Amino acid sequence: MIFAKRIALLAVSFTVLLIYYQLRSRDYGAALVGLSQTVGLGEYYLHDDEAQKVRESVAAGPTDSAANLSHTNTQPGPTRHNTADGTKHNKFPPPVLRPAGQTYTKAVIIGKLSSENTSWLEDADLPHVQKYIYTVDDHHAALHTSVNKAHEALPYLTYILQHYDDPSLADINIFLHAHRSAWHTPELLNHDALQVILRLSSPYVTRHGYTNLRCHWDPGCPTRLHPGRIDRDKSRPEQLVIAVTWPLLFPDEPVPDALGAPCCGQFAVSAQRIRAIPKAHFQRYHDWALTTRESDYVSGRVFEYLWQKIFTGEEQLCPDARACYCDGYGVCFSPGEFEAWFAMKARHDELEKQLKTWEDRVAALEVNRAYYGGDLRALEGMELEIPAAGLGSVLTEERNRLYAILGAKREDALRNGTDPRLRAETAGRSWREGDGF
Ligand SMILES: *[C@@H]1O[C@H](CO)[C@@H](O)[C@H](O)[C@H]1NC(C)=O
Ligand SMILES: *[C@@H]1O[C@H](CO)[C@@H](O)[C@H](O)[C@H]1NC(C)=O
Ligand SMILES: *[C@@H]1O[C@H](CO)[C@@H](O)[C@H](O)[C@H]1NC(C)=O
Repeated sequence: MIFAKRIALLAVSFTVLLIYYQLRSRDYGAALVGLSQTVGLGEYYLHDDEAQKVRESVAAGPTDSAANLSHTNTQPGPTRHNTADGTKHNKFPPPVLRPAGQTYTKAVIIGKLSSENTSWLEDADLPHVQKYIYTVDDHHAALHTSVNKAHEALPYLTYILQHYDDPSLADINIFLHAHRSAWHTPELLNHDALQVILRLSSPYVTRHGYTNLRCHWDPGCPTRLHPGRIDRDKSRPEQLVIAVTWPLLFPDEPVPDALGAPCCGQFAVSAQRIRAIPKAHFQRYHDWALTTRESDYVSGRVFEYLWQKIFTGEEQLCPDARACYCDGYGVCFSPGEFEAWFAMKARHDELEKQLKTWEDRVAALEVNRAYYGGDLRALEGMELEIPAAGLGSVLTEERNRLYAILGAKREDALRNGTDPRLRAETAGRSWREGDGF
């Protein structure tokens, strides 16, 4: 009896402790959000007693030591103010567009491993496009980074620092991965980075200052990360790192509750926007990437959802996908048509998958038939599915029908995209006769 009571007592104590720790860590996360970042967050969450002191000192206002920690923030960034509706806006100088029809200079910036083949870009005939191909693991390459860290982020930042003061900095700077084709590169441009370079509207980038090259929200929008949550999330290892790193990257700015943008670290920035941000800020991001002890993978992921913050000040930046395709690339679907196209594409891909399964079954059956001399009874008890006769041609026909419709609709959308008025309308901006895109 006594023994049982002891066990019960132990169990109760254990449960209480567990609840206490759970509550405490949740409270921690909540406490981080909105915390003034004149205080180093790393210290804040690592030591419990210290944390309490810091929390109290934050409540009491900035101190000398806090002021010392923010010494890197000597140059003012874009001013930030809250509007009546509570949304945050960052003031950048108004964009200066070229007269309609005038060309903009473009630069494409890529980071690659020496083993990667970028001839798709090197050999492409692209007038008005400067190509900057940084090799991250070869110091003898014409353009290279000092180390191979932070994935694409280090070559991107190296380029910005090297060209910030260059009078010939391109009007439009397009930051891309080394591969020509990727699932996350816009689907309506056939996942083709070359199409991205060719079709991307320079006035669109100039107007926005910064634009993600991916229009689709998934993955990344509207919310990808909650930096305030400091518990380790295996699928998002960068979440905790961002929380801890925030004060180094954005001194004096509170840790945001959420970060969100279309995924994958490909974007375009105007020269005007690059220069509206103090060079020292880029130096700071660069230096962190260079010196962090985080792995290449994690430090790269840290930047993936910070670019919109870096270039616009917005923590969540998720523009309408249809408007992005239309105004950004000249692929203009009318409202219902846009969703319908992607629904049909999903159906097409599903048919493709079913067809593949059917073909695999036929092939497996053929192998067995050859082996057992056509005696189908030998198949009994084996885990072979008998493919439905004729299903292959039904699937093929339907898939081809959808493929043709998808192609025709896309062509129609490209034709629509040649109309600057329609593009302005879709993006919800005013347009007058004679205006370009
Ligand atoms: C702040 O920095 C200055 C110079 O680096 C140093 O002299 C001073 O003691 C520091 N103050 C505190 C409170 O750490
Ligand atoms: C690089 O890719 C191109 C095709 O895009 C191919 O023609 C070329 O042989 C490749 N180069 C190397 C070194 O593999
Ligand atoms: C192209 O524009 C026309 C006229 O606005 C519209 O009727 C048509 O649906 C658009 N095409 C697509 C594919 O959305």
